[in-house]
Amino acid sequence: MNALNHFLFAVYPYICLAVFLMGSLARFDRDQYTWKSDSSQLLRARQLRWGSNLFHIGILFLFVGHTVGLLTPHWVYEPFVTAPQKQMLAIVSGGIAGLVCFIGLTMLLHRRMFDPRIRLTSHRTDLAILIILWVQLVLGMVTLPLSYAHRVDASAMLMLSHWAQSIVVLSPDVGVLEGIAWPFKVHMVLGMTIFLLFPFSRLVHIWSGLASLAYLFRPYQVVRSRRLNVPAGQNLPRRAS
Ligand code: HEM
Repeated sequence: MNALNHFLFAVYPYICLAVFLMGSLARFDRDQYTWKSDSSQLLRARQLRWGSNLFHIGILFLFVGHTVGLLTPHWVYEPFVTAPQKQMLAIVSGGIAGLVCFIGLTMLLHRRMFDPRIRLTSHRTDLAILIILWVQLVLGMVTLPLSYAHRVDASAMLMLSHWAQSIVVLSPDVGVLEGIAWPFKVHMVLGMTIFLLFPFSRLVHIWSGLASLAYLFRPYQVVRSRRLNVPAGQNLPRRAS
């Protein structure tokens, strides 16, 4: 059991991270034409609009929440908010975002499984990713009452964030997970597996979604008029519309 725990929480995280980073790089380098979100908006557009928007709003909130919540050291937020307060904030906001995401994801899954035309145009990994995300979300929601049970001292949250930070600083501390209930552990292993599968699925579009933030900071586009009678100095660079 100890060896399994050690593998899953001290070795597997690094395998997943390595495949995630190197695999994304290799796919971008070798297979750029497959690097896309693979929109299926021509089919059942209304259900897609609702499903996709609810899903993405929820998942982006959860994604940022997990990253900031797990990786911010305790001493950074301690002066402003206590650990139990932070945990309650995570339970309530995560619960709401989880529910929104669950409704959207269930709509997306229903659409992809039961519409024969969408089923035919789907790749195996499209369906697999939706099912894995759905199971992961349900497991995440199962952990909410367990976190709530530890609300007085926020011990579960503190142990989990300690473990996550130990992974980032390359000094994994598996011992801290001893008192952690199994739904958390299954949620963590499946979460890491999503990183492992990332480069082989349409999830690569998330890199592009993040990279599009660079648009906000891109340099001015220089537009030069073809007309010859523009007085000098009026032909100024403009922001592209
Ligand atoms: C970073 C910002 C993101 C952007 C801009 C983005 C954009 C998109 C777009 C344009 C689609 C295609 C929708 C269509 O069929 O027309 C899509 C689909 C999808 N996205 Fe994202 N996405 C983002 C983040 C995420 C995240 C964080 C996840 C999950 C971890 C995710 C998972 C998915 C999945 C599973 C689908 C397929 C849904 C289906 O079966 O139709 N996306 N995304």
